[in-house]
Amino acid sequence: MEKPFAFTTKEFNAVRQKIRSLTGINLADSKDNMVYSRLSRRLRALNLTTFQAYLNYLDNHQDETEHFINSLTTNLTSFFREAHHFEQLAEYLHSHPGPLRIWCTASSSGEEPYSIAMTCAEARGSLATNVKIYASDIDSRMLERAKAGIYPIDQVEKLSLARRKRFFHRGTGSNAGKARVVAELRNSIHFFQQNLLAPQYSVDPGLDIVFCRNVMIYFDKPTQEIIVNRIVKLLKPNGWYVAGHSENFNHLTAIMRARGKTIYQVNEKPI
Ligand SMILES: C[S@@+](CC[C@H](N)C(=O)[O-])C[C@H]1O[C@@H](n2cnc3c(N)ncnc32)[C@H](O)[C@@H]1O
Repeated sequence: MEKPFAFTTKEFNAVRQKIRSLTGINLADSKDNMVYSRLSRRLRALNLTTFQAYLNYLDNHQDETEHFINSLTTNLTSFFREAHHFEQLAEYLHSHPGPLRIWCTASSSGEEPYSIAMTCAEARGSLATNVKIYASDIDSRMLERAKAGIYPIDQVEKLSLARRKRFFHRGTGSNAGKARVVAELRNSIHFFQQNLLAPQYSVDPGLDIVFCRNVMIYFDKPTQEIIVNRIVKLLKPNGWYVAGHSENFNHLTAIMRARGKTIYQVNEKPI
């Protein structure tokens, strides 16, 4: 099919360089069609006719940066994705009955932090728990969705009946076909925007657990190590760093050690 806009290798490389410097995301050579289709929408929205005009616009309009980043992030997620992490979290909660702080660093549309919050509520036997949950993402559109906590019913129907009843309201009228996370659970999470590439994170140290899953795969190795080191500084000794299924930090033995499938425990005295 003929593409309405020309998209040269030079323009693709300029996009790659820009997104990498803004977010750390490394786009492979094979992502040219993905970039074309996602950014074409921005060209149309702005009535621009060439990618070069879009790149110039991006350089001269600060507020386009957010649209550019939001267009190029990949936000795939689901409730209780990689279920074994939530089983381990439940065990941690039972063996640590005191107050805890957990940060979900790339929370996308919210399914992951809500899965953490549901696990906490189940373990503590109440929607009001002594666990403080923080959830962040770089993508402002995803953060808005996460805060709203409204999901298509077919996504929620994959959860057990007990979880659906306890943690969701079924939409009616114009909200038919959707379900919303109950207010107590929504309010138990502090959502904020955070670029993991930033030199400082807006979370105080002393965290017990950090979920940083399925985002490091988009960064190169040196960037991953910088970010892991920053996160580890925010974790308590013996705190947990929870990684995604294809993210491996077994080599970072100076700061943390593996303690199960893609969970790492921070060393007592990081060297
Ligand atoms: C594939 S999703 C993973 C979502 C969730 N953690 C999970 O495992 O289901 C990757 C998320 O990382 C976010 N992301 C990408 N680059 C980021 C960055 N530099 N800082 C923070 N979040 C980023 C994206 O916006 C996206 O929501």
